[in-house]
Amino acid sequence: MKSVLESIEAPAYWGGTPAFKERFRFISPLLPPLDEVLEDYRAVYETGVVTNAACVRSFEEQSAAYLGASDCIGVSSCTSGLTLVMRALELSGEVIVPSFTFFATAHAIRWNGLTPVFADCDRETWNVDPLDVERKITAHTSAIVAVHMYGNPANVDALTKLARQHNLKLIFDAAHAFGSRRSGVPVGRFGDAEVFSLSPTKLLVAGEGGLVATSDQALARAIRLMRNYGDDGSYDPQFLGQNARMSEFNAALGLRGLRLVDGKVRRRNQVACMYSEGLADLPGVSFQKVEAGDQNTYKDYSIHVDSELFGCTRDQLAEALLSENIETKKYFYPPLHKQTLYRQFDKAALPNTDYIADNVLSLPIYETLPDSTVARIIDCVRRIQSFAGQRTFQTDPNS
Ligand SMILES: Cc1ncc(COP(=O)(O)O)c(C=O)c1O
Repeated sequence: MKSVLESIEAPAYWGGTPAFKERFRFISPLLPPLDEVLEDYRAVYETGVVTNAACVRSFEEQSAAYLGASDCIGVSSCTSGLTLVMRALELSGEVIVPSFTFFATAHAIRWNGLTPVFADCDRETWNVDPLDVERKITAHTSAIVAVHMYGNPANVDALTKLARQHNLKLIFDAAHAFGSRRSGVPVGRFGDAEVFSLSPTKLLVAGEGGLVATSDQALARAIRLMRNYGDDGSYDPQFLGQNARMSEFNAALGLRGLRLVDGKVRRRNQVACMYSEGLADLPGVSFQKVEAGDQNTYKDYSIHVDSELFGCTRDQLAEALLSENIETKKYFYPPLHKQTLYRQFDKAALPNTDYIADNVLSLPIYETLPDSTVARIIDCVRRIQSFAGQRTFQTDPNS
């Protein structure tokens, strides 16, 4: 009689045929039709004004309308937007921020000479845990910076309450979250400001760029000036600004991309649902929880691998998937408190952050990824899991 393993095709890592002949892209931004974009670029060319002009204004207005935000300001990146917002809000002392995020979130804090205080994340949503944020508040705290991880809305309600109670500024790093909704309300309307990224891995792509969404008119005015050196035209800046302007070409691409966002969110949710359903019964695999009524953009889709139950580590799974020509990422590992620049701010244990970041594996997700590819990726993860406990790995990537 055949053993169970004999009836399953061997994963490529243990001698089987790779599921994919060649490596395919981990991300692949879906851009608007080139002829439409070229038409806009030509129009910009003909005006001769190629930065911070009509296209940027139109992009800002249409983005604000999409989000239902009072104001949107186009900037050169999310990192510059976050940096300027913190400067304009005149933050001081300590800023509470999750460690489970991309380093740009904390870079903006450091560029302002502020001290990041890391708060732990929630084990289920992988967003910053408001209870730990509360524990980290001191007399020196001036703000909370929360992240909508992968586009999964943060606990906006609890964070808003905390910020009000303690008279703190609340900023959302919404890099992943253009198209997200919290209880049906578009992300972009919360806190003192929300800052989006428009780089190519995001759902709304402007090539490079960022958007600051805010209902604070004074802040909006300051950011508008600060992206242009702080100069209001008087040649006597009142704000210490930068050149963080958005070019007309970036804005034109963003404008055309706006109409694609809803379709992208729908398709990414379908892919995420396929993955989650296809892997749900595997021991040791768990998923990011999205609260009922919320909409995640799934800028990224990650699974959490408990090695004891799964039979191998996250890194070994990544290695075995690569043998199938499936590229994965570890968004976001290592967490900030373990990185060179931020180790000095590692002051308290962050058990959930370690638990998530050490075991998270991001699988390919994008709009044009066919169902058949998703199904094969699921099949590979399942086959690797079946073999993992019974076969050895050449290397222990953790050792
Ligand atoms: C959470 C987070 N914040 C900020 C950024 C920086 O965005 P940008 O590249 O537009 O500066 C990123 C980039 O992916 C990010 O993932």
